[in-house]
Amino acid sequence: MKRTHHCNALTKNNTDEKVRLIGWIQSIRDHGGLIFVDLRDREGITQIVFDPKNPNYGKDLPTLKDESVIEISGMVRKRPNDSAISRIATGEIEVVADGLKIHNIAETIPFPLEECKADRVNEDLRLTYRYLDLRRPKNLRALRLRHRIAHSVRNYLDRRDFIDVELPYLFKTTPEGAREFLVPSRQNPGSFYALSQSPQQYKQMLMVAGIERYYSLARCFRDEDLRADRQQEFTQIDLEMSFIDREDIYELIEGMMKTIFKEALNRDIETPFIRKSFREVMDRFGSDKPDGRFALELVDLSSIFEHSEFKVFRDCLKNGGSIKAINGKQLADITQGELKNLEDIAKTFGAKGLAFIKSEKGEWKSPILKFLSEREKEELRSALSVEDGDIVFFAASDWLHACTILGRIRLEVAHLLVSRKRLSIPKDQFNFLWVIDFPLISFDEEHGRYVSTHHPFTAPIEEDREKLKTDPQSVRAQHYDIVLNGFEIGGGSIRIHSAELQSLVMRDLLKLDEKTINDRFGYMLRAFKFGAPPHGGIAIGLDRLAAIICGADSIRDVIAFPKTQKGQDLMAQSPSYASEKQLRELHIRTITPQEK
Ligand code: AMO
Ligand code: AMP
Repeated sequence: MKRTHHCNALTKNNTDEKVRLIGWIQSIRDHGGLIFVDLRDREGITQIVFDPKNPNYGKDLPTLKDESVIEISGMVRKRPNDSAISRIATGEIEVVADGLKIHNIAETIPFPLEECKADRVNEDLRLTYRYLDLRRPKNLRALRLRHRIAHSVRNYLDRRDFIDVELPYLFKTTPEGAREFLVPSRQNPGSFYALSQSPQQYKQMLMVAGIERYYSLARCFRDEDLRADRQQEFTQIDLEMSFIDREDIYELIEGMMKTIFKEALNRDIETPFIRKSFREVMDRFGSDKPDGRFALELVDLSSIFEHSEFKVFRDCLKNGGSIKAINGKQLADITQGELKNLEDIAKTFGAKGLAFIKSEKGEWKSPILKFLSEREKEELRSALSVEDGDIVFFAASDWLHACTILGRIRLEVAHLLVSRKRLSIPKDQFNFLWVIDFPLISFDEEHGRYVSTHHPFTAPIEEDREKLKTDPQSVRAQHYDIVLNGFEIGGGSIRIHSAELQSLVMRDLLKLDEKTINDRFGYMLRAFKFGAPPHGGIAIGLDRLAAIICGADSIRDVIAFPKTQKGQDLMAQSPSYASEKQLRELHIRTITPQEK
């Protein structure tokens, strides 16, 4: 069995050549006198013509179902009189078969593979038969593009003197990060590994080891609730460098993105990328990963409402809060259901509601209108350029909450405008942004305490260092995120490389106790006492980057075998049970149904 060509190779220049092709039956059409088969492999499709009277075919051919695997030999023929088949690249020719070998007879497949139909098939069904789903050109293209990106990253980093070092996946549990997957150790009863959330600590140890420039395409494991842009297992383009500052990272990553986009998409992207502070992006877009492909900016109205009759606004300002607003341009025709959804979003952030004003047919309508003075209305109109057909939403809360609420409303408003065809957000426009000057620590509502905004190894900005003890919340970090079209595609920082500063951050800022610091990070603090070079790095989320480059809605589309929202692989049926024997060896007691 040796094919002479793949199914996308033949042109009219091959006319009268004897060829052998092998692939899947994409479709089979019995036209009485002749049988036409679209034969497909990963490269494309060739039309094969069978004469049913030819004894070489066997009587099985007409009964073969789509997706059966066949091998054919035959002669290339130019399609007669300009009747090229426009839907396929090899449409100028067809192959007249003289031999057929059937390698695998397929049963009826559980869903159609044609792009237009398959996209509407339930995703769980497609994931159960992922090997069929992956046969679709769209999915093959995604895997290929992902390969192309990875390939170009490896070459680029090799040219820039990085060394690819594989680091352990079996690591140890560390506080301060995402929820981890624990792996019980058979050899050390009662002890656990944790699957690496990222190679952060190991890559820093490589810098102490003098490697200077490390990279790897690293698998990371986080037991998170999954979303469109999150998986429990994902891949980072992970790197770390010694003797550098933030500018070196910006330059390196901008060059990497330029190379990737050129090599994967043949697109030229402009560098350097713009940079905005955390404060600015939150204030203007209500998000630390704003999508810059559309405007809809937030406006601060605090100064307008200082003496307002409206109690909600006045009290908020009295308590040091902010009044922020956004103009939903030409969205006054929002439905009750859509409005309720927006209110519910505001409420998930603790707001009591989402005040709004609609301007319809020259008239303003709002439950809060009666509280507003003429001066307030006029200032509001001019601050937000309110026109007829607009709807303005307000958030009154502390600054960060008010921005965050309206940041979410901004995305929803954009979504509603897109669905009404009043706004277009082109998928093939690539809007890069560096977000910088994050606070070193931020308040974690869930745990009710301060945590590192990035991670505990991030260095403070030099000029803010003296405020570490006096006003830690105002200290900015040498932390940078790279954002593309509203997704955080990467993040990193310049690290702390002094044991003393590292202990201070863990003890005084994060309030970790001595035992935790020693048990979890003791080896790192020790290493920093044996000649630690200044260093820093970044990790780019390869899945997210690939999804955006492919124009995919979810990172699942660029992962060969992704997990569902519930963390399951529907094809292989994992996770699954372990045997009593396995559990005994791991010193794990099974849970009885009653205990569940
Ligand atoms: P961070 O946690 O910000 O940093 O992760 C870096 C990038 O990885 C991607 N990412 C994910 N992609 C898919 N599914 C997930 N669950 C997921 N979580 C994160 C994002 C993110 O920007 N060690 C540090 C980096 C460093 O400081 O060098 C780290 O892991 O695109
Ligand atoms: P109330 O007087 O509490 O009924 O609120 C009047 C209007 O203000 C309602 O439309 C609420 O949805 C809205 N509202 C209440 N709290 C806030 C808030 N924190 N931010 C924005 N709007 C609010």
